[in-house]
Amino acid sequence: TSPKTVEINGKKYTTDSWFNVSSTVLALTSRKLHLQKDHPVAITRKIIESVFPAPTYKYYNEFDPVVSTHENFDSLGFPPDHPGRARSDTYYINKDTLLRTHTSAHEAELFRARASGGYLLSADVYRRDEVDRSHYPVFHQVEGARVWDRTKVPGGNIAAAVRADLDRLPTHNMKVEDPNPPFHAERNPLQAPHHSPDEAAAIAAHLKRSLELMVNEIFSRAKAAVAASKPTEETQETEPLRVRWVEAYFPFTSPSWELEVFYQGDWLEVLGCGVTKQELHINAGSLSQLGWTFGIGLERIAMLLFQIPDIRLFWSRDERFLAQFRGVEDNLQKLRPFVPFSRHPACYKDVSFWLGGVSAAGGGKGGAVDWHGNDLMEVVRDVAGDCVEDVRLVDEFMHPKTGRRSMCYRINYRSLERTLTNGETNEMHERVMKGLVERLGVEIR
Ligand code: PHE
Repeated sequence: TSPKTVEINGKKYTTDSWFNVSSTVLALTSRKLHLQKDHPVAITRKIIESVFPAPTYKYYNEFDPVVSTHENFDSLGFPPDHPGRARSDTYYINKDTLLRTHTSAHEAELFRARASGGYLLSADVYRRDEVDRSHYPVFHQVEGARVWDRTKVPGGNIAAAVRADLDRLPTHNMKVEDPNPPFHAERNPLQAPHHSPDEAAAIAAHLKRSLELMVNEIFSRAKAAVAASKPTEETQETEPLRVRWVEAYFPFTSPSWELEVFYQGDWLEVLGCGVTKQELHINAGSLSQLGWTFGIGLERIAMLLFQIPDIRLFWSRDERFLAQFRGVEDNLQKLRPFVPFSRHPACYKDVSFWLGGVSAAGGGKGGAVDWHGNDLMEVVRDVAGDCVEDVRLVDEFMHPKTGRRSMCYRINYRSLERTLTNGETNEMHERVMKGLVERLGVEIR
């Protein structure tokens, strides 16, 4: 039974059958970690802002998380059948209103304001997802954009103006392994009606240098923090940072890229970006503007920067966590790796169940077709909150005669802050099973 109305940051919204936001997630809409002084998410935002200085870039950090489906998807050119729109992936208030899944939801609005130069926007974003140490239904992103106006540059020569701006940017000594990956023209065409190849190349070069400088700033700070935390004899020469560009696809940029960073033996995707689709500027009524946009997730970067091992820690109000970052926002020299407090024991509990109440093979509504793991994740989060470290599907099979589907999930109960008692864990697990039966109609085996 969902509420008829919900209040989010002081505003009331009417729900309908699309409503799927749990009370746990609703409660997080007021936390605004990106604005909390000395929070690692806020510190990471500040470091990113420092690479995109005012007055060229304007900063927006207070946009409300409730947006329209139009803003989040349609205005950016998402096709009507895009999987990101699914109720299994996105939190809806009602059919036309949702919790933004990305900061790009505000691009159209900001382009309409016709800010010259560019902007950086940080905000909380919401996605239904798995439960593990690197996924949380709420996280934070910074969106950045740079625009140039053809009517405001000498001779209307955008390419020359962009290159002049590029020449004013600092340089770096990072190793960029794949500065110009090949493109699939059908997926990532040059926006030929709007840009010449030379203009697009100039914008791409400015975009790439800007983002390389950002990544360089973040990882140099991470390196300095590690060095400062060790006795001098132990500090050794570290290798230069390796990064590479890979082709990507977004409905609102073309061409598009992701930037990957080589970190602890793996290539790690850190951001998405591209040459802004001209439709966005045209729809905003600014036909003479063009430029680039990017989006970066803050938690993943903060986890590397501060060596934070579990994403749940960001939501902790435990002083042992928060105290470690105090004073860093105003003096980044004080940045140090996070020292984890002792790890408490894990407690694994399995839950096995049949999907639906009616046999799928019998032609009835088996429920099997509707099953989505994220619905189970949501029940677990709602009941046990941050006492669960991860949830994994360990077994799945179909009964050969009845056609019913059986699933077994393994839940790892482990608090970051204290040792859970047996009684407590059993009680939570009971409530998870009850929630699965009541909310998803499964039959416990
Ligand atoms: N909004 C995209 C995401 O969340 C990132 C992005 C932003 C890509 C801007 C291109 C331009 O994945």
